[in-house]
Amino acid sequence: MAVGKNRNAQLVIDEDAIFHNISEERKRLDSKSDLFMVVKANAYGHGAVQVAGIAKAAGATGFCVAILDEAIQLREAGFVSEPILVLGLSDLNNVPLISKYNVSVTVSSVDWIKQAAELAQKLGLKNKIRVHLALDTGMGRIGLQTVSEVKDAIVELKRTSEYIDFEGVFTHFSTADSTDDDYFQYQLDNFNELMTAIPEKPRYVHVANSATSMWHKAAGGNMVRFGVAGYGLNPSGVAIASPFKLEPAMSFTSELIYVKEVQSGRSIGYGATYTSDSREWIGTVPVGYADGVRRSMQGFSVLVDGQYCPIVGRVCMDQLMVRLPYKMPIGTKVTLVGTDHDHTITLQDVADYCHTIHYEIACGYSSRLPRVYRSSDHLK
Ligand SMILES: Cc1ncc(COP(=O)(O)O)c(C=O)c1O
Repeated sequence: MAVGKNRNAQLVIDEDAIFHNISEERKRLDSKSDLFMVVKANAYGHGAVQVAGIAKAAGATGFCVAILDEAIQLREAGFVSEPILVLGLSDLNNVPLISKYNVSVTVSSVDWIKQAAELAQKLGLKNKIRVHLALDTGMGRIGLQTVSEVKDAIVELKRTSEYIDFEGVFTHFSTADSTDDDYFQYQLDNFNELMTAIPEKPRYVHVANSATSMWHKAAGGNMVRFGVAGYGLNPSGVAIASPFKLEPAMSFTSELIYVKEVQSGRSIGYGATYTSDSREWIGTVPVGYADGVRRSMQGFSVLVDGQYCPIVGRVCMDQLMVRLPYKMPIGTKVTLVGTDHDHTITLQDVADYCHTIHYEIACGYSSRLPRVYRSSDHLK
């Protein structure tokens, strides 16, 4: 998809905010603890390479991604020596690339370890395959579930240690952002039980996403996988207060590209779902669902020159229409996320309106929207 460098719409990323969020969490951690910034999915839409640079400046000691290609993107962008952990499962076909780029991968089966070691031996791979063992303590996604499975994996890891570097072990909590701790505690108990099968701990033991790091310090580990809070978003939405002020990094702005007055009874947009009931000023904004503005945003109010104006009619693929309080000039600023004058629209507001979570909204802004970075001088 072409990046719209010449269009009147952009995501503005506040680098200082990301720096602030990561360094505040860094201060709360034990000085020996590692913080791996989670930059998967193009850093939750914020731009993986740029965020990785800011995160490093703010004290991140490594990165987490979801797929191998995201790790390769970072290596090729110059992050040549930082640990990068692929959180998703990797295909055995990728073992040569995993070794070449020296990235760490998640493993979830004894068989994978065995076959990866065989491949590494056969192909004479230079770098050992670094692995983190995933333990499924109740997330139900990937990972070993029983003490006996973990014991088998440890035997296999020892047997193949010439080719496989057992670098880490981890689990992932599914309710760390909830006010009810029962399921969290159940998962933690499971984790502690599974860990009895690993008497010699690897370099990294990690259990914490943003929510666990911020609200469940006692869960332990020596590395956190810090994601959404690094972007200034509260993992719980609004349910639990964060231990420090989170500064949202992403704004989304555009402008009016067309303004007209319509007579009473005129319909707007596909399906003619909105009809003016008096003479109205209608503005057109050049963004649509191909940019990640969902069709379900119809009726949501964006800021036009700092004033709330509802989206009228259906959101089109590339354009949407807003009802203006009066004639406003072409070029007037439109804020879909962010602050203008005294008003702020948060990603949480957008998510609430669309009945989803801010993670999904941020990740959903497409690559057609250029990312524009703003920072004060200390990051340069
Ligand atoms: C395994 C794992 N760890 C950490 C994270 C980061 O979570 P958060 O963005 O809530 O900090 C994720 C995100 O989905 C994940 O899947």
